[in-house]
Amino acid sequence: MDSNQTVHMNHGEGETSYALNSKLQNYMQADLKPLIEEAVVTLLESATYLPNNIMNIADLGCSSGPNAIVLVATALDTIRRHHGQPALEVCVLLNDLADNDFNTVAKILDEIKQSHEGPAPTVVTGMVPGSFYTRLFASCSLHLVCTSNSLHWLSKAPEDLVKNRIPAYDGDENLRRARRPTVVAAYRRQFRKDFTLFLSLRAQELIPRGRMVLSLVGSHHHDVDAQYIQPWECPAFVLNDMASRGVIDREKLDSFYIPIHGPSEQELREIIEEEGSFEINQIMQVDTSISRTNEFMSVKAMAIAGRAIIEPMIVQHFGPSGEIMDDYVRTLEKYYMRSLINTPEEPVVSMCVSLSRKI
Ligand SMILES: C[S@@+](CC[C@H](N)C(=O)[O-])C[C@H]1O[C@@H](n2cnc3c(N)ncnc32)[C@H](O)[C@@H]1O
Repeated sequence: MDSNQTVHMNHGEGETSYALNSKLQNYMQADLKPLIEEAVVTLLESATYLPNNIMNIADLGCSSGPNAIVLVATALDTIRRHHGQPALEVCVLLNDLADNDFNTVAKILDEIKQSHEGPAPTVVTGMVPGSFYTRLFASCSLHLVCTSNSLHWLSKAPEDLVKNRIPAYDGDENLRRARRPTVVAAYRRQFRKDFTLFLSLRAQELIPRGRMVLSLVGSHHHDVDAQYIQPWECPAFVLNDMASRGVIDREKLDSFYIPIHGPSEQELREIIEEEGSFEINQIMQVDTSISRTNEFMSVKAMAIAGRAIIEPMIVQHFGPSGEIMDDYVRTLEKYYMRSLINTPEEPVVSMCVSLSRKI
């Protein structure tokens, strides 16, 4: 990572951990299953893709806890059901940033290895720490890359905002409204840079016609002036509320940038086409609004899940404080309650994308 910002999720398996509070992301991973199954079946059906009977599968931004192996387990189950290649060996590689909780990942990888002992395929596993905005794997070594709920994380806060000291979320509402197009445009530029780099790196690592299946938080609307919410705006709203009550320092908030961007479908298509290494098989938008999430999660659980994602960043910037985090969860819960009651359906979506590396 270029930035010194801490963007990993809450470690461990305790009550505020990502491992215990990632039900929403798990729900969103389910949307990728048919895309992964289709990619695996296509790879299995062409002997030219697997001349040595070895398939290398990687999940990037796996985090920790049960979600870390959901995508690779889907691929393994598809291979199992597809009895064509009894001698197949599968190498499962899980990636995240070096400060991710790889201890819990190691345990869960061992479980997946043991659960696949016995009939083919032979499964071997590995962990690959590092930023997915750098080279992670050898050239032409991967057959399938999966990633869920991670690519909206930028490599760093938008340079133009940091350099010009423009707060992402100004305390003054009029100023905030006036600056919003500038702020959103800066986030878009950073995303374009990062996602272009991500695509070109993965194109080097995948075999020709290798597959990539990914999901990330996105925006239903493309128009910058549209009344849509970028994924950093909800935590920024909460922190602004806390600053106005003196719970956190306003000046510190003005220099706090949450490095996340939710692209529109148009942005994704343009970047993939301009970068040029991949064919788009499918882009699907799935509704992840608060009301849909509330069908299977209470607002309290949603707020605790929000904490598991952002706590390391808040602690790094504002200092460790149980009081700050408790207030954050309470204020976020109130925000979700108000959104459920007051606002029409919020166009927050998960973008699910299936790509093939061009030859
Ligand atoms: C919300 S979690 C998603 C985890 C899991 N894939 C899921 O769907 O539940 C996002 C993960 O992306 C990781 N991440 C963010 N930026 C990254 C980068 N540049 N390289 C590798 N991992 C990154 C974070 O550390 C975090 O574990």
